Parts: sequence; C-alpha cells; structure tokens
Amino acid sequence: MADRFPKDFLWGASSSAFQIEGGWDEGGKGMTVADHNSFKRSHKQADSKVASDFYNHWKEDIALMKELGMKIYRFSLSWARIIPDGDGEVNQQGIAFYNDVINCLLEHGIQPFVTLYHFDLPYALVEKYNGWEDRRCVYAFERYAKICFGQYGDRVKYWQVINEQNLMIRVDERMNINEADPLKADRIRAQMDYHMFLAHALASKACHELVKDGKVGPAVSSTCTYPLTNKPEDVWAARMNDCMKTVYCLDMHYYGRYPGYYMRYLNERGIVPVMMEGDEEILKHGRMDYIALNYYRTLCASYLPADGSHPVGMRVYRGNEVDFDQYGYCRDEKNENLAASEYGAQIDPMGLRIVLNDYYSRYHVPLIITENGLGMGDELTADNQVHDPYRIDYIKGHLKACSLAIQDGVDLMGYSPWSFMDLLSSHQGFKKRYGFVYVNREDMDLKDLARIKKDSFYWYQNVIRTNGEEL
Ligand code: BG6
Repeated sequence: MADRFPKDFLWGASSSAFQIEGGWDEGGKGMTVADHNSFKRSHKQADSKVASDFYNHWKEDIALMKELGMKIYRFSLSWARIIPDGDGEVNQQGIAFYNDVINCLLEHGIQPFVTLYHFDLPYALVEKYNGWEDRRCVYAFERYAKICFGQYGDRVKYWQVINEQNLMIRVDERMNINEADPLKADRIRAQMDYHMFLAHALASKACHELVKDGKVGPAVSSTCTYPLTNKPEDVWAARMNDCMKTVYCLDMHYYGRYPGYYMRYLNERGIVPVMMEGDEEILKHGRMDYIALNYYRTLCASYLPADGSHPVGMRVYRGNEVDFDQYGYCRDEKNENLAASEYGAQIDPMGLRIVLNDYYSRYHVPLIITENGLGMGDELTADNQVHDPYRIDYIKGHLKACSLAIQDGVDLMGYSPWSFMDLLSSHQGFKKRYGFVYVNREDMDLKDLARIKKDSFYWYQNVIRTNGEEL
C-alpha cells in the first residue's frame, strides 16, 4: 500500500528525563518528586540515580537515533536541572547540558520535540508549599517555561507543556498527596489539577509570544473505554469513564473551561477549586495548537450503581474495581476480545484508530502520537542480540491503525513510540523494557550499560526509511 503516510511525517521515538538521564545530583541538579518516589523503591529495583545513564552517554545515544533514522526525538527537560529548587537561581550547567543535547540532535538532522514537565516536579517546591496545591507553583512553572523558551526556542519549535496531567493527577504519589481522608484528598487534587491547567495556559501563551513559529500542546494519556454490553447504562458508564479521565482535560485546554458534567462533579462533591478573577482570561488564551497523545491500551467497563459501600472520589480504585463515582460507579472489566500483554495491558490497535478519529473530530487540531509501545522482559542472548518479535507486531498493528486513521481524514503529523531505549519503568524498574535499544543493566546490577540494538530497531529503521510503506 503506497503513500500510507505523508511525505513529511514525523517519525520518532520518545523518553523522559528522570527515566533515562541518571546523573540525578550531578551538574547542579536538584532532587525531584520522581527521584524521591524512585528512591523509596531503591532496595528492590532500579531508581533514577543512574537510570539509562543518558547523562553520560548522550552522544552515543544520539548517534544511534540518527542510525535509526529518527526525524524527531521526543524527550523532556528536567525542571530541577534547570532551576534546582524550582523557583530560585538558574543552573547554568543544566542549561548547557540541554543546549549540547539540542545542538547535537540538530547536527544529526533530528528535530527536538520537547516536554517541559514529565512527572518530575522539583522536590523543593513540595517542601516549600506542597507543589501544585499552591498557586505559587503556577508562577514558578510559568517562569521556568519562559526560561526554556528563551534559551532553546530559537531551535526547538515543538513543545509539550505537561506529560499526562490527566493521569498524573490520579496518582497520589506523583502529586505528593498524603491525605488519608478521601474527600480532603480530592479537594487537594481538584485544586492541583486546576493550577496545572492555569500553568498550561500561561506556558502556552508564553510559547506563542517567545518562540517564533512555536507550536505548543498537551501530552495526554489516551484510551477508549468499551461498554461490556449494549445496555445503555454500560454505554454511558464507558463514555463517562473517558470523559472524566481525558476529555474534560482536552476541553479545558481547548475551550478554557470545564465541561458541564465535570463542573457538576466538582459541585456535587463540594470540591470546586479556588479560582481567581482574571483566570478565565488566562485559560482562554492558552489554546493548544496540537494534541500529543500517549496510547497503550483500551479499557472495558460496566455500570455499577452506587450503594454506599464503594469509596467515592475520582481516583483510580483498581483494587476495588471502582473508577469514579459520577453518574453511578463504573467497574473495570476484562475485554474477552483482546489479548493482554504480560503486564495486563489490553492490546488494541483498532482502539487507536477510534481515539484518533474521536479527538480529531472533536478539536480539529493536528495530532501526534508521543507514546505507544509494549513493555516486556526482553532477553539478551549469549551472542548479544535481543529478539523482540512481539514488539514489532505491536508497533506494526498500531502503525496500520495510524495509516487507516490518516485515510479517514485525521491530520496525524507523526508517530513517536515509547521508547527510544530501555528506561526506568516506575513500578518494574528495568524488568519491563520498551526500547528499540537494549540497555545492558539489571535492576540491582549496573553491568556495562552497553547499548545493543534489538531486532525491532532494524525493523523500525526500515519502516522509517520506506516512510511506512514496508511495515
Ligand atoms: C506513560 C508515561 O504513562 O506510560 C511514561 O508517560 C511511562 O513515563 C509509560 O513510562 C509506561 O508506563 P510503565 O509504568 O509501564 O513504565
């Protein structure tokens, strides 16, 4: 099938700072929430201290990116490497590090595709005022964003403000929510979420003002939820699961206001965040230019009427099988029609076609996939090879879905799977690997950190070379 993908399609691969860099306290970098959380698990798995050691291997890694044929590299800057305490002095060594990386990428013909904040809030801001709970964090972020646009905006044209705000907000550990009372916790959560929306809008506005031809957008965690049956209640439960987890967030980025069902949720739960005069204006001017979406799996749900025995709140209650309490409860179900990965992700290329069509018809802005991939326990053979046909199958299926979505009329500008190389997975360390490049280390043994190209590397290299004609 010729011309599956446009000529200027942005082929890439992705990563994030705390998951690859290492050098966690080198070059003046401050501690982050991601470091803090990973150190809690240091006794049983890899942490962010060394991770994939990109901090010391970046030249070699970028050479491999070129060999792979990447047109873009999606990665994040570490706020605490640039401003160690979040809102104080700028660390020139941090600025220089990312200048070197960006220049090297450009010299190799790779466009930097940069995220400002990927789960790694400077820990000093948590100590000062519990991070996003306090409005000062919004202004600290705006300042950080402006510094980045000023330093790198002459060369970096594509920016994502926050990675997966819509997922991060549900994970207490990532937000540093330590409140036992669910209602109080949800009040804090709603305020933090709102502050991040403000931060997103201010940063987007600043990008438009400071970066010539700059494009800015969110990176959302995307999925679609199927109803278990065609009972209207199940259909509604499935739809609301997507609305409460993702669509409300995209609506906020696009229209600058919460949709009605979300406002109703906040009102009924009594957790409407504190909003200040002038905020409406800020939110309205932060419009996204494109949507970056991270897609791994789909979900399935059935309606579960509230009966008082279920915990309330919008957190993910995996253990209790209860997801949110608005318009009735919703139960996570297994989809018998889909195979699951060894880590339980329901693999579903068709779901990606649905999501791409859905987002494009809602907002009519260009889309790009910034994460998609399969985490597995890859084996290194005695002759230093990694055979990962399962990863090739996964990506091939999802690329076919992308090509169909493009034929459906979706403006999909690129595909940047997770991940360029093996990196730190929050709960499985280096046991679960996503990369095209194997990093030779184990959780508790750093070995030689050698970079080894997997079978999927050569396969993806050919996909890029043929612009997707040979999948
Ligand atoms: C995404 C995150 O949600 O999922 C990444 O943006 C993360 O940071 C990826 O690594 C895969 O999740 P996990 O838990 O398998 O590493």
